[in-house]
Amino acid sequence: MPVISTPHAFNESRLYVDLRSIFGRSLYLKCEGFNFAGSIKLKAAIEMVETAERRGVLTPDSILVESSSGNLGVALSMIAASKGYRFLCVTDSRCNLSARLLMEALGSQVHIISDLDPTRGFLGARIDYVRALCDSDDRYVWLSQYTNPGNWRAHYRRTGPEIARQFPRLDVLFIGAGTTGTLMGCARYFREWHRPVRIVAVDSAGSVTFGGKPGRRMIPGLGMSIRPPLLDESYVDEVIRVEEAETIRACHRLARRGFLFGGSTGTVVSGAMDWLDRHRTPGLTAVAIAPDLGERYLDTIYQTAWLQDLYGDHILDFDEVTADSL
Ligand SMILES: Cc1ncc(COP(=O)(O)O)c(C=O)c1O
Repeated sequence: MPVISTPHAFNESRLYVDLRSIFGRSLYLKCEGFNFAGSIKLKAAIEMVETAERRGVLTPDSILVESSSGNLGVALSMIAASKGYRFLCVTDSRCNLSARLLMEALGSQVHIISDLDPTRGFLGARIDYVRALCDSDDRYVWLSQYTNPGNWRAHYRRTGPEIARQFPRLDVLFIGAGTTGTLMGCARYFREWHRPVRIVAVDSAGSVTFGGKPGRRMIPGLGMSIRPPLLDESYVDEVIRVEEAETIRACHRLARRGFLFGGSTGTVVSGAMDWLDRHRTPGLTAVAIAPDLGERYLDTIYQTAWLQDLYGDHILDFDEVTADSL
């Protein structure tokens, strides 16, 4: 019986969904949404905060500040509340309403940037705001998830070994790329492992992370409007880019079987299924990471009016995989 006294002490790490009956190909989806912050970002948040505490950067009168599209902000809000720090989250107008309300419920302050930087997008504008704040008052402590090695180290120490323990014969791992903390931590871990694992990064179309032109992206979590400073492409074997329409279809296909996941899971699953369709290697052991669950997206990805406005009336017309078609 797990009994805890701090919210970050619990994090389900052994739960996988086998997607064969839903998509027709075997893929084990590691569920990272079962903790009190509701996402994989809890791992990066606790690693970065506790490293800053050990180094004496965080003191009782510090004010944590971070730029986040939602999930890291919720995780930091939870940790700040538990440890007694103040926290200010700088986000933008694409942040989910529920993420903002969660941060406020946990006692954090939320600042929303509504004007994008002409060349560096919303992210550039958010970072400029955080920098100006830190320059104005030295009580502000910016953990900087985009550059902090604690972000990837969390996954090198935890997510990579968790997967390796359950799948000692793993062949391919699909990982969504946002800040690339999850990607770089897992990729570094498996580079040192006892057998080769193919590391496939999944990015959203319109992101500039692996090159290419910036484009409209409405689903938070994956993709960047600047190149992620943590990214070292020498650890990445392949990159798949997924259109948002495909992300949405994958999310709805999962939801119709009772699994309500977040947008980035739809992206990773769609990219992984496409890769598995192209490779068709018998006996392959494949794992993908699901960063969060779907409740934070009820007013966007799971709302028909929002979908039709952005992607057209036929966005949800797709064929189901049935037992007969497998
Ligand atoms: C829902 C979701 N998916 C994926 C990611 C990407 O993870 P990373 O920043 O480790 O690349 C994030 C990051 O915030 C996220 O919130």
